[in-house]
Amino acid sequence: MEKKLESAHRFLAQEIGRTPRVAMITGTGLNAVTEALEVDARIPYAAIPHFPVSTTDGHRGTLAVGTFAGKRLIALEGRFHLYEGYSAAEIALPIRVMRLLGVTHLFISSAAGGLNPRFNPGDLMLITDHINLTGKSPLTGPNLETLGPRFPDLTKAYAPDLQRLASAAALEERMELQKGVYAAVHGPHLETPSETRYLRLIGGDAVGMSTVMETIAAVHCGLKVLAIAVIANVNRPDLMEEISLDDVITRANQASPRLARLWGRIMNLTEEGPF
Ligand code: HPA
Repeated sequence: MEKKLESAHRFLAQEIGRTPRVAMITGTGLNAVTEALEVDARIPYAAIPHFPVSTTDGHRGTLAVGTFAGKRLIALEGRFHLYEGYSAAEIALPIRVMRLLGVTHLFISSAAGGLNPRFNPGDLMLITDHINLTGKSPLTGPNLETLGPRFPDLTKAYAPDLQRLASAAALEERMELQKGVYAAVHGPHLETPSETRYLRLIGGDAVGMSTVMETIAAVHCGLKVLAIAVIANVNRPDLMEEISLDDVITRANQASPRLARLWGRIMNLTEEGPF
């Protein structure tokens, strides 16, 4: 693992030059977020040593470096999921490489299904905490001591100061921002009505198949995480409707300009620099 990290790091350090402090991951149907990026360089994942390549519809599979809302960032356009067959450690690799490059903040967008009955499709939800139901951890195996501790604390996995910043940004944009707990499942199958009821009962406000491996890997290596989910569909266990990936992508795309506006304001308010 360490050798792979080093060679991916070496390659990107040469390509990127001065590294931004913020990296952003965009998920299903959320590519429009990075369309507002003034791109300096765009590198296909396939060209980066040991980077996985995403196989899901709606995911681009490129790393872009550029300026967004006046600040430089790295955009990871397209991500990797357990259900594609990647190991948790493979999903963690790009995050760890970000850390080696000097990134300090990881901003995550993803699409999710709503469990909270007060949510509506198209809502944006600030992730305040998660429940990892995937049965996996990116930290399985020997600990990479140079990156972080064996038993990282997750009591503040989603940085409270960044959450406050996101709430302030939403207020300034006069945008409603829901808050809640993200329950992570392995997928790729969607949930049965009984699973949906269970996820709500144990405290989930939204359910999705990403975000959590990345967050755990990021917290382990000392990155501050801010994550926002687009509620693509709302699942009600007693009135369960069929969910299609096309609908999820359509909803996520519809929410994309609003999400881009919110991220832009968050970038504006993010003071820790130099970016
Ligand atoms: N369940 C799991 N993942 C999802 C959903 C869902 O309903 N919608 C978008 N991603």
